[in-house]
Amino acid sequence: MGKNKLKRFADNLAFEHVFEPPYSTIESNTFENKGKWNLFFNNNNPITVELGCGKGEYTIGLAELYPNRNFIGIDLKGSRLWVGATYAKDNGLKNVAFIRTRVDFIKALFSENEISEIWITFPDPQNKKRRKRLTFPRFLQMYHYILINQGVINLKTDSNKLFHYTKSVAEKNKLTILKASEDIHHSDILNDELRIETFYESLFTAKGDNINFISFMLNSEALTDSDFDEDLYDNAVAKIPHNERVKPSKLTH
Ligand SMILES: C[S@@+](CC[C@H](N)C(=O)[O-])C[C@H]1O[C@@H](n2cnc3c(N)ncnc32)[C@H](O)[C@@H]1O
Repeated sequence: MGKNKLKRFADNLAFEHVFEPPYSTIESNTFENKGKWNLFFNNNNPITVELGCGKGEYTIGLAELYPNRNFIGIDLKGSRLWVGATYAKDNGLKNVAFIRTRVDFIKALFSENEISEIWITFPDPQNKKRRKRLTFPRFLQMYHYILINQGVINLKTDSNKLFHYTKSVAEKNKLTILKASEDIHHSDILNDELRIETFYESLFTAKGDNINFISFMLNSEALTDSDFDEDLYDNAVAKIPHNERVKPSKLTH
């Protein structure tokens, strides 16, 4: 392992705003901050969580936009979240924390109704493994547990398929869709929050890709998968010549 990564891991261990709960803590459901994040932040301000935060651009960007709210980035990779953690420290952001762990363990990190909002920023679209998508109903049920009533879930993604899959799950379960756009950078919903650009987003926009966004609220814990037809969608996409940009809404699924 490179010296740089080792230094980042050592920094993470020393940072007071970075947490790396061991699996035993997750398994025994004894994480120190669960249900007590207000004590960590020393206030009762609403908390937003970014899932798969990478370098934490949303965690940091939102924390700077909203000093009276708290933000927690979660990622598996310590060397990535170190970037956001270091920025927060160097810039005196007291409303920021990071957790190096798996999203799958989220119910061990937060209590019921502890979180106001979730951002999922450019997750792996899991094109072949629907059950692993961060908007698969099993994940949404976990988010339902930690979210307050009317808590909001935001998904920003380059993946047209993940966007359409997520929208179909929301529609199937009659969730309240607040905003949806297949091309936010050319839409009238663009605002300061959506202008925050992540590292992965910058790679996709440099290629000219459209960026999708959907935000919605979970009305109930009883969530089922949609009948989104993967093969139909994939076949329809495969028929489109590479040099032609066809909006995904024109695909038949
Ligand atoms: C494509 S990157 C996007 C990173 C960042 N949000 C961005 O837009 O630049 C996906 C991130 O999700 C993280 N990740 C993937 N699966 C995860 C999981 N189960 N739990 C936590 N993080 C995960 C990866 O480590 C990676 O940093």
